Amino acid sequence: MENSNKNSNSTKLARTVSANGLVLPVIGQGCWNIGDDPAKSTDEEASLRLGVSLGMNLIDTAEMYGDGASEELVGRAMRGIPRSEYMICTKVLPHNAGKERIFKSCDASLRRLRTDYIDLYLLHWRGDIPLEETVFCMEELVRTGKIRRWGVSNFDVADMEELMAVPGGENCAVDQVLYNLGSRGIEFDLLPWLKSRGIAVMAYCPLAQKGTLRRMSYDFEKNDVLRKVADKYGVTIWQIMLAFTIRGGGVMAIPKAANPAHVRENRAAADIVISAEDWALLDSVFWPPTSKMHLDIE
Ligand SMILES: NC(=O)c1ccc[n+]([C@@H]2O[C@H](COP(=O)([O-])OP(=O)(O)OC[C@H]3O[C@@H](n4cnc5c(N)ncnc54)[C@H](OP(=O)(O)O)[C@@H]3O)[C@@H](O)[C@H]2O)c1
Repeated sequence: MENSNKNSNSTKLARTVSANGLVLPVIGQGCWNIGDDPAKSTDEEASLRLGVSLGMNLIDTAEMYGDGASEELVGRAMRGIPRSEYMICTKVLPHNAGKERIFKSCDASLRRLRTDYIDLYLLHWRGDIPLEETVFCMEELVRTGKIRRWGVSNFDVADMEELMAVPGGENCAVDQVLYNLGSRGIEFDLLPWLKSRGIAVMAYCPLAQKGTLRRMSYDFEKNDVLRKVADKYGVTIWQIMLAFTIRGGGVMAIPKAANPAHVRENRAAADIVISAEDWALLDSVFWPPTSKMHLDIE
């Protein structure tokens, strides 16, 4: 296949997260809306390549994004980079996640991504197909070498408990969920639940879509405490937000950035060390949950 065995100059991030044995960088790269506009594709491809070269070598996409256009762009962007130097996480739509369609869906993703294996294949969200059937198919895809590992997305604790009860469910490597400084509900139960089982959290919308995420009750850019902490460490508020998501271990973040300056800042966020006192200051404004909260979904 393409995407193999050419020169490389990428580095690895020192901080990693274990996803049931698969080692992931603490910061990867998201691809929602990437590939939608052909006029932007040169910059988008360059940003992804830059991110990989800086060590953010897990790329998150989905068959749903741009109806395959995002996967196609990832496939083009990674041409010439040795396959072992980046990881691809993509997602199957719930209605495709059964025996009838998943194998065709996976093959189509592989073709668009110009690769012969997917590192992480996730169920995008829970649909009507029984979990037992989806897990059976995921395990079959692992057995045939089309995917290395599988996981889920937008699963709360009750969904995870059901998943663990089906044969093979314990092989789940990742739960990709919405998590950022302004949406901390998972800290109450889901995050510790996953951590205790070695299942990685993949934090999506870690920048709350640069503050534009609907239902966000905070205005990050106008928040004095966030600004004060960012100024103290000489970084941007968005870098503090990324550092927040990955601070406690067990969580990796997948910010989307099509601007090279943002890519570099996101990489630098992996190295920011913030004092306990300053985290406590942020807690006093962006409150941690004190009771069970509804899982936030984008
Ligand atoms: N599983 C799911 O259901 C689900 C749902 C939503 C998202 N996701 C995944 O999670 C990824 C991330 O979420 P998202 O794309 O919705 O939102 P996000 O990563 O929170 O925010 C993306 C926005 O932040 C900007 N940005 C990136 N780095 C920045 C920096 N250092 N400083 C300032 N702005 C910065 C980007 O601008 P530029 O592009 O101009 O750099 C873009 O406008 C998605 O791309 C997708 O892969 C998964």
